[in-house]
Amino acid sequence: MVAALAFAGPGQEPAVREVSPTPVQPGQVRVSVEAASVNGIDASVATGRLWDVLPHTFPVVLGRDLAGTVQEVGEGVRTFTPGQRVTGAITSMDLGIGTGTIAQSVTVDAGILTPVPVGVSSPRAAAVGLAAVTARDLIAALQISADDVVFVSGATGGVGTYAVQLAVAAGATVLATARPGDAADFVRSLGTALVVDYTDPASAGAAVAPWGVTAIVHAAGDAASLAALLPSGGRLASALGVTAEQVGRADITVIPVVAAAHPAKLSTLLADVACGRLKVPVTRTYPLERAADAVADFAAHKLGKLVVEVG
Ligand SMILES: NC(=O)c1ccc[n+]([C@@H]2O[C@H](COP(=O)([O-])OP(=O)(O)OC[C@H]3O[C@@H](n4cnc5c(N)ncnc54)[C@H](OP(=O)(O)O)[C@@H]3O)[C@@H](O)[C@H]2O)c1
Repeated sequence: MVAALAFAGPGQEPAVREVSPTPVQPGQVRVSVEAASVNGIDASVATGRLWDVLPHTFPVVLGRDLAGTVQEVGEGVRTFTPGQRVTGAITSMDLGIGTGTIAQSVTVDAGILTPVPVGVSSPRAAAVGLAAVTARDLIAALQISADDVVFVSGATGGVGTYAVQLAVAAGATVLATARPGDAADFVRSLGTALVVDYTDPASAGAAVAPWGVTAIVHAAGDAASLAALLPSGGRLASALGVTAEQVGRADITVIPVVAAAHPAKLSTLLADVACGRLKVPVTRTYPLERAADAVADFAAHKLGKLVVEVG
């Protein structure tokens, strides 16, 4: 048995409990998990309100990102060997048995894994995962260049902190949302030209307008209000699945983005982390026994990424 942050059944709270390890099938790898980070999907599942929406089998283990060590490889797996340090992100929304990563071990398809570069700790590797790939896909969808003025809404979260950095790295001028105080300082440290207090929408709009925003990363907030900041021909990419119809603007491009966590993308992002080009915004870590707190804290004005240290 392995300890995991799991729902035993509907109507129960997620708690650290013993679950059976999933057998390793051909093409799969069992990873001894050292760290797993928390994402929006975990917080949503933890509410217990998605059982009618997502396919699942109890016990449902939370967690989509992982970093750890290969324990066992299935038939046909030639890319990984036991003892190798690996990381990966599960993007499937199927919460079948053994698919969560906040656990002492998890069995995953070898195709989602990539090696962890030397010098990158497991907590940092686990915090890249889904959030950084989503940010990368948002920035790619917007085709951000040095000519852009990009407004990142939700810049204090996991996706947003990576999106800010990737847009800055592309040479763009970046404006980003944050509450005043520590959150604003945090976002400023990532290279933003202007921090916008989203809790005061009227002054936020007035502060942003003179900058001539050309593109918007939508990781939080009201998409229609954000789209109103764009001129005709502007672009908005949404991590929340918002479409052009929903924002009511036919004269701008709106791209709903669903992250595709291909290992090659993760590998590139991890290489940037290893050489210091990309900061991993881990602001708090939790031992496995406190994993339920990590998921609860996710929705409580935290900054950046929260990580559960399992090993
Ligand atoms: N499409 C995909 O494939 C994909 C993948 C990953 C995540 N997502 C989604 O992308 C979104 C962001 O994910 P995440 O992991 O970065 O979540 P997160 O860490 O919770 O980040 C959201 C951030 O937005 C801030 N915020 C809340 N309301 C805001 C508003 N009105 N305007 C501006 N900022 C606001 C929050 O800060 P406060 O503390 O101030 O509330 C928080 O820091 C989530 O909805 C998640 O489900 C989608």
